[in-house]
Amino acid sequence: MRAKVDVPIIAAGGICDGISMAAAFALGAEGVQMGTRMVSTLESPVHENWKNAIVGAAETDTLFVRSEKGPALRVLRTARTERLFAGDGSAMQGLADGIQDVYFGGKLENGLAMCGQVAGRIEAIKPVAEIIAETVREYAETVRRLHEGLRE
Ligand SMILES: Cc1cc2nc3c(=O)[nH]c(=O)nc-3n(C[C@H](O)[C@H](O)[C@H](O)COP(=O)(O)O)c2cc1C
Repeated sequence: MRAKVDVPIIAAGGICDGISMAAAFALGAEGVQMGTRMVSTLESPVHENWKNAIVGAAETDTLFVRSEKGPALRVLRTARTERLFAGDGSAMQGLADGIQDVYFGGKLENGLAMCGQVAGRIEAIKPVAEIIAETVREYAETVRRLHEGLRE
């Protein structure tokens, strides 16, 4: 992707640790953004039901739901989002309906809890500082391992 543009690249989508950061940097990124991983942190202001749902989710526990007008969204799988996925209703309306309940009331069934497939790789609620320190350490280890593999 680096060859296609002449601006700094911050990669987003599927990044939750140092290994995925190394993969993004290999493609030419100079920074990464974590969405779902940051939603699941200790300091994140969302209700703990949402954080626990991310930790408990497998990579198959999200659905891509569409709207007639507006973007499609990837969300946690619930009975409500299963219906949206089947074409019953609009994702954007579903998002607007229960946003306070989902974010701060922990009632994930009342709206849409946005979530990447990367949830399947998130195993614990941790402080942001710990995640960043682990990510930087794992990134360096990964790059070193790949470099040493090349020399063997
Ligand atoms: C709580 C939350 C809110 C989001 N809001 C938006 C948004 O307003 N617009 C958008 O394009 N994507 C939004 N996204 C999608 C993220 O930008 C990102 O593409 C997605 O989460 C995948 O990255 P991840 O694997 O790090 O989660 C949101 C994601 C989350 C988890």
